[in-house]
Amino acid sequence: MAPRVLLTSPIPDAAVRLLSKKDKVDRVDHPLSEKTLAALIRPYDAILSTLADPITALVLKAAPRLRCVANYAVGFNNIDLKTAQASRIWVTNTPDVLTEATADLTWSLLLSCARRVPEGEALVRKGEFKGWHPRMLLGVDLLGKTLGIYGLGRIGKAVAQRGKGWGMKVLYHQRKRETSRVERELNARYVPFQELVRRSDILTLHTPLTPETRHRFGRREFKAMKPTAIFLNASRGPLHDERGLIEALEKGWIFSAGLDVYEFEPRIEKRLLRLPNCTLLPHLGSATIETRDRMAVLAAENILLALAGKRPQTPVFEL
Ligand code: DGY
Repeated sequence: MAPRVLLTSPIPDAAVRLLSKKDKVDRVDHPLSEKTLAALIRPYDAILSTLADPITALVLKAAPRLRCVANYAVGFNNIDLKTAQASRIWVTNTPDVLTEATADLTWSLLLSCARRVPEGEALVRKGEFKGWHPRMLLGVDLLGKTLGIYGLGRIGKAVAQRGKGWGMKVLYHQRKRETSRVERELNARYVPFQELVRRSDILTLHTPLTPETRHRFGRREFKAMKPTAIFLNASRGPLHDERGLIEALEKGWIFSAGLDVYEFEPRIEKRLLRLPNCTLLPHLGSATIETRDRMAVLAAENILLALAGKRPQTPVFEL
């Protein structure tokens, strides 16, 4: 009998074709609750999941045949890794193929905040553009400014590259310092966390969500930032405390914020929606046609390898 694969989202056709050659593929529409997934998953050998699917211990334990969870994302905080590993189920993600798209999206948030793009666009659409004005919607320059990166992984590095191109100084912080070769290549300087917070003109987050990084940025950090600073999060919403961020934007502790992710995603605090000094996007980090194709094909290839008893290309842990 052909192995059965469950798709929880409408992934690009190329990946569905790849899987359908060897496996029986079923698709369900998400969002799926933990309970629904647990009820569905029993007959499946693999699941191609998204970050919205709670692949918890309950779900994994309800899946006696499961050999691979291929997440259609670089992040995997929706999956209980310990249980998967203990049950000898591969978990894979999609690193590398989405690095540039996510860095580009971060850069569009950055430019949008620096030049107040959403406010300008709203003004034009409301018919309030009455001609050039010397003080209308003044933003901030980027040349010579300090770009602070929290998490210099693949995406953080691609953002640092862009900062170099823009003539910015790059500072970073993470648990482990990079080699001097990497620092030289990116022209990036390692600084302690508090210094990163205090000195950045633009502060951008590129770290996974873990118990240690949850709420890493809250009231205290926003208060310590420059009043002219821009805060960006295109990583995971719970890295910042949304209420603290709203207070910072309301009280002018910082200049503006650009968010692609939210603490309680997809729910967004009403007060945030009313604030003019932020750019808000619906989790579009990897959302380009080419990138989503590459992610889906990589996830499908990972499933095929795992079901053939081989090591997938991009496992989150070794088995
Ligand atoms: C990821 O890959 O983790 C993104 O957040 C979704 O594309």
